[in-house]
Amino acid sequence: MELFNVYPLYNVTPVKAEGAYVWDENNTKYLDLYGGHGVISIGHTHPHYVKLLKQQLDAIGFYSNSIQNPLQQELAQKLGKLSGCEGYKLFLCNSGAEANENALKLASFETGKSRIVSFNNAFHGRTSAAVAATDNKNINAPINLQQEVTFLPLNDIELVIHELGKEDVAAVIIEGIQGVGGLDEGTTDFFKEVQGICNKKEVPLILDEIQSGYGRSGQFFAFQHHNIQPDIITIAKGMANGFPIGGVLIADKYEAKFGMLGTTFGGNHLACAAAISVLDIIKKEQLIKNVNEVSNYFLEEIKAISQVKKVKGRGLMLGVEFDFEVAELRKKLIFEKHIFTGGASNKKLLRILPPLNINKEHIAIFINALKEILK
Ligand SMILES: Cc1ncc(COP(=O)(O)O)c(C=O)c1O
Repeated sequence: MELFNVYPLYNVTPVKAEGAYVWDENNTKYLDLYGGHGVISIGHTHPHYVKLLKQQLDAIGFYSNSIQNPLQQELAQKLGKLSGCEGYKLFLCNSGAEANENALKLASFETGKSRIVSFNNAFHGRTSAAVAATDNKNINAPINLQQEVTFLPLNDIELVIHELGKEDVAAVIIEGIQGVGGLDEGTTDFFKEVQGICNKKEVPLILDEIQSGYGRSGQFFAFQHHNIQPDIITIAKGMANGFPIGGVLIADKYEAKFGMLGTTFGGNHLACAAAISVLDIIKKEQLIKNVNEVSNYFLEEIKAISQVKKVKGRGLMLGVEFDFEVAELRKKLIFEKHIFTGGASNKKLLRILPPLNINKEHIAIFINALKEILK
C-alpha cells in the first residue's frame, strides 16, 4: 500500500535525536530550530521524558475514560500550578484541532448559538469547526464551509463590537500569537477590549495557545503578556514533547455534564506520563527563564544580518522576515548547514520554534550559517 501523498517532503530521514539535535541515517547531525512545528518543548529524548514513558509503558499504557486515572488529576494539578490557571478545569483530548473543536462545541452548547468570530490569517486546525475558523479556503471542503464564520482583521475592536452586537455569536477564537499565519498578534488594548465585549455579551473568548502556549512566548501562555483571563484556553503542541495530546482549559463558570464532550484515547496513561514529564522539566530546568534569555540574545545577534527586515513574535516563537522569499534559504540551511527552520504563509518569513532548552551557542551557529549563506 502506498501513502496518501499530502505532504511535500524534504529528503531527510531522522533516525535519532537528542536535545536540540537530530541525526539522519548517514549520521549527519542537524540543529533543530523548528521542533517539528513547535512540538519539541523540553528537547528530543529528554531523559526524564523517556524514563516516565518507559515506566508507564511497563505499568499500563492505556485504558479508556470509563475508569479512574489519577495521572489525569496529577497532570491537571501540575498544569494549573505552573500556568497560574488553577481556577480552570481540564478536558484532555489528542490534538490541537480536537482541542479547538471541543472548545467551539462547548461554547456553542453554552450560548445555544453557532456563528464563530475568527481573525484574518488564523489557523485553528483541520477538522470541522476548527478548519472553518481557519482563514484558508484551500483547506476547507464544501462540508466545512457550511459553518458560519466571520473573519475580522486583528486589532479593529469596532468590528468585533459590531459582530457581537448581532447576538448570534457562539465564540470568539483567537491565537495568542498567530503561528502559520505569520507571527502577528493582537495588541494588549485589543485583547483587553475583546475580553471586555465578550464578557459583556456573554460570548466565550477562546484563546488558542496550541502553538504559543507552554512557555514558548516567554510566559506560560502568550495571553499572559496582556493580562487577560480567557474563558477557554486550548493547548497541544508543546504539551507532551511529541506524544499526541491536546487539552481544553475551561473556566469554572461552565458546568460539565456527562457525555457533553468525550474521546476514546484522550488523557490515556502514556499521554499523561509524557505531559507530566514536560511540566516537571519546564519547572525544574526553569525553561521559561531560558526562553527569555535566549530570545534576547537572538534579537541582538540577528541585527547583524542586513537582509532581515523585521523580527516578529515573542520568546522562542519567532518569525524572521527577509526582503526576499525564503524557500531557497531554508533548503540551504538544511542541506548545506544542517539546520531545520520553518516557513509560514508569508513566503518571506522564516519561522524559528526551537526546543525551549536551547542555548546561546545554538543561536550563534544559526547566525553564522545565515551570514555565510547570505554573504
Ligand atoms: C495555533 C494552532 N491551532 C491549532 C493547530 C492544530 O493542531 P493539530 O495539528 O495538532 O491538530 C495548530 C497546528 O499547527 C496551530 O498552530
